[in-house]
Amino acid sequence: MRFEALSVFPEVFDPYLDASIMGRARRARIFSFQAHDLRDWTHDRHRTVDDAPFGGGPGMLMKPAPIFEAVEDLSARGEARPRVVFFSPCGRPFDQGYAADLARTPRVLLVCARYEGVDERAYSLADDVVSLGDYVLTGGELAALVLIDACVRLLPGALGDEASAQDESFSASLLEYAQYTRPASYRGMDVPEVLLSGDHARVDAWRRADALERTARWRPDLLDGAGLTDDEWARARE
Ligand code: ADE
Repeated sequence: MRFEALSVFPEVFDPYLDASIMGRARRARIFSFQAHDLRDWTHDRHRTVDDAPFGGGPGMLMKPAPIFEAVEDLSARGEARPRVVFFSPCGRPFDQGYAADLARTPRVLLVCARYEGVDERAYSLADDVVSLGDYVLTGGELAALVLIDACVRLLPGALGDEASAQDESFSASLLEYAQYTRPASYRGMDVPEVLLSGDHARVDAWRRADALERTARWRPDLLDGAGLTDDEWARARE
């Protein structure tokens, strides 16, 4: 899978993507990444990418022309036309389903805005506009890294243990259950006895109940899609 990013800070991506699991997957060519400097598609001496908004208001907007030229130029390069993703708090919420869909896409171009946003006409280039959540970042670069991370870990071979991409938060629409490792007792806090029992059926039942309790507490909006039994609904409402 190939990711490209268009940004006025193309240097911010590599430190993250060369470390840890991302770095290993990148070196193993499970994914490739290239950042492009948006200023390479400007034509003035100052390499200007922003301007004041018509109608007034604070801050600066990204000009449409460098983005249009860059996206058109990059789309014409290479074999597959990229899926073009913009980032904005006004976009569709990013979630695991979208990450999984994108992870089946051969080439993705991530357009990272800075300043107060982008001239609205540039969004006509977007296949998707994605929001990370209901808060405002200073730019799309962190959002792009989050998206890449969430997609890459779904690619075959990216995680050492294939099982770990499955049995966790959101794959079954419940938040993930609590997990513990040694020691069994630490600073007076004990690991639930059932997890030490070796009884897999009891462990599974405890995990399901814990996932249900956490989801009911922190993300009740997820319960509807989680396929709960009548019993579980009763417990979730307690
Ligand atoms: N750019 C600024 N804030 C953002 C957000 N919450 N999600 C995606 N892109 C953004």
